[in-house]
Amino acid sequence: MNAPLLDLVAQYRGIKDEILPALTAVIEAQQFIMGPAVAQLEAGVARLSRARHGIGCASGTDALLLPLKALDLRPGDEVITPAFSFFATAGTVHNAGGTPVFVDIEPDTFNVDPAAVEAAVTPRTRALLPVHLFGQMANLERLRQIAARHHLPVIEDACQAIGARRQVEGTWRVAGELGWVSAFSFFPSKNLGGWGDGGMMVTSDDAVAARLRKLRLHGGAKQYHHDEIGTNSRLDTLQAAVLLAKLPHLAAWSAQRREHAAYYTEALAGLEQVRTPVVDPCNEHIFHQYTLCVERRDALQAHLKAKGIGTAVYYPVPLHRQPCFASLGYQEGSLPTSERTAREVLSLPIYSELTRAQLEAVAGAIREFYR
Ligand SMILES: Cc1ncc(COP(=O)(O)O)c(C=O)c1O
Repeated sequence: MNAPLLDLVAQYRGIKDEILPALTAVIEAQQFIMGPAVAQLEAGVARLSRARHGIGCASGTDALLLPLKALDLRPGDEVITPAFSFFATAGTVHNAGGTPVFVDIEPDTFNVDPAAVEAAVTPRTRALLPVHLFGQMANLERLRQIAARHHLPVIEDACQAIGARRQVEGTWRVAGELGWVSAFSFFPSKNLGGWGDGGMMVTSDDAVAARLRKLRLHGGAKQYHHDEIGTNSRLDTLQAAVLLAKLPHLAAWSAQRREHAAYYTEALAGLEQVRTPVVDPCNEHIFHQYTLCVERRDALQAHLKAKGIGTAVYYPVPLHRQPCFASLGYQEGSLPTSERTAREVLSLPIYSELTRAQLEAVAGAIREFYR
């Protein structure tokens, strides 16, 4: 029984009849740039994240880069971010003119350790950039307290966490609701994925929303008049139409992923070589990834591959040990939880359309490996 890591064709088959007419409508109107679907999607994602503004852009990377640019960073300005994330989280800090300051993660949730964040604050710190990794929100209440104490904005990297929720002081808060600006990615593999690149920023700060709208259009609120230098980072109307058709399915797809996750966690219980994902009791996880920490990771991955089961290592090298950041001087051993996690993680297939037989095959093959 094969189980690919991801099967977008299975999703496509189920919703083809909803998406193709939406695309045809864009093609018939020939409104490829900032057509009506963009504003509709912006309103939909803003509503979902309980933010006043949604601002589409070309990718999740740009959804981080533009708010970082809005900080007007100067050389030496620091942004504190976890060492264990996708590269864009740190690359954008550099590309916005700042220096990423890497801190360690919590060993169980894979999310940034708030105590490590607080310890890393210096007079040069300009923002906190936590990541809701794999679809589970970081401890935003503690991060917001730290941010408030030091008068710092919080930019949420919510690229993997659209629709995730966290109970903060007894109230459910959603990814994107509490940050100064939050970034979503619509990369095709995401829980809400386009048919190409796409991203969105959400914020409830009217002033920064206006600035971000300008920055994505070469820095001009009025065409051919430029107050500052921005870039071309619009969300394609065709992508917006695809995403708009998919948006009503998002909650059910994420619920399905949670059910799959519950199955795996039960089926793998008791294996001492395997640690299944730990969900903070305050969180509702959307399981963008279902990520184990395992012994003999590479051998397990090869065993699963031989059985037709797709897996991935997100991420094999923590950001502070990437060659491009060598000049920042982080040594091996400096952020031990991130380093150990990078050696142990393995993500399993978790897409909504997985069948029970596929789930059983994956769990069975893992049990067989450790027998
Ligand atoms: C945590 C995180 N940050 C940023 C990004 C960047 O998003 P994109 O690939 O849409 O540029 C991604 C997605 O790949 C991500 O997973």
